[in-house]
Amino acid sequence: MQRGHLLSSQESRHWTDWVIWMKLLMTLTINLISVMHHSVIPGGPLMFKNLNFGIDLDSRIAMVGPNGIGKSTILKLIAGELQPTSGTVFRSAKVRIAVFSQHHVDGLDLSSNPLLYMMRCFPGVPEQKLRAHLGSFGVTGNLALQPMYTLSGGQKSRVAFAKITFKKPHIILLDEPSNHLDLDAVEALIQGLVLFQGGILMVSHDEHLISGSVDELWVVSQGRVTPFHGSFMDYKKILQSS
Ligand SMILES: Nc1ncnc2c1ncn2[C@@H]1O[C@H](COP(=O)(O)OP(=O)(O)OP(=O)(O)O)[C@@H](O)[C@H]1O
Ligand SMILES: [Mg+2]
Repeated sequence: MQRGHLLSSQESRHWTDWVIWMKLLMTLTINLISVMHHSVIPGGPLMFKNLNFGIDLDSRIAMVGPNGIGKSTILKLIAGELQPTSGTVFRSAKVRIAVFSQHHVDGLDLSSNPLLYMMRCFPGVPEQKLRAHLGSFGVTGNLALQPMYTLSGGQKSRVAFAKITFKKPHIILLDEPSNHLDLDAVEALIQGLVLFQGGILMVSHDEHLISGSVDELWVVSQGRVTPFHGSFMDYKKILQSS
């Protein structure tokens, strides 16, 4: 059943139930009473207190805030790379989370080609399926067989993005994904994110990326995460005037 089809009232009720069920199942609720940094130094600084927010399949959020405020820490908490010192980060057991950063683009095996790389990452998956997936991100034809050291930054980002989305994550976390990317590569990333049907939480200060791929802005400041009612430009104006 597809969204947007005219439904009978019974179908409509089933559809609504399904949406609610999916939301309950997939909603990733973060309810941190207090989070101390994972620093092993006893009595390290308390970074966040009373954080309480959720992310679901419809979330398309960019998180902004000054350097060192804890944005990457929040992503790591959500991904399970860090544990809060108190409170809970609840993740539905069914939720698949993927993490994308420049690190993943830099980590590509440049001597390999996109298809071989995907075959190594996902052994046993039919070649045609991997080709089709690469193709959906614009890595088609000969491009899929060229050594990756010959690919542009944008093409490499497409391969990295194809890799992290192959297992169909429900939520993608991106930490400053456009750092060191040229315009072409940022454009490729935006296209990938627009195609992606799931939740997005990214840390970025790239206006083009933010306006092209998300619709909500959260500000991290003084141990809190708050929704910002305005555009990224509005946020920048406030920063400049303060
Ligand atoms: N491995 C670590 N050990 C100890 N302290 C750390 C570690 N990683 C980060 N920190 C500290 O935790 C705080 C938050 O770091 P975090 O990387 O989350 O900030 P950020 O908001 O992502 O900053 P940026 O915008 O510079 O990426 C900073 O004060 C940082 O110095
Ligand atoms: Mg960071």
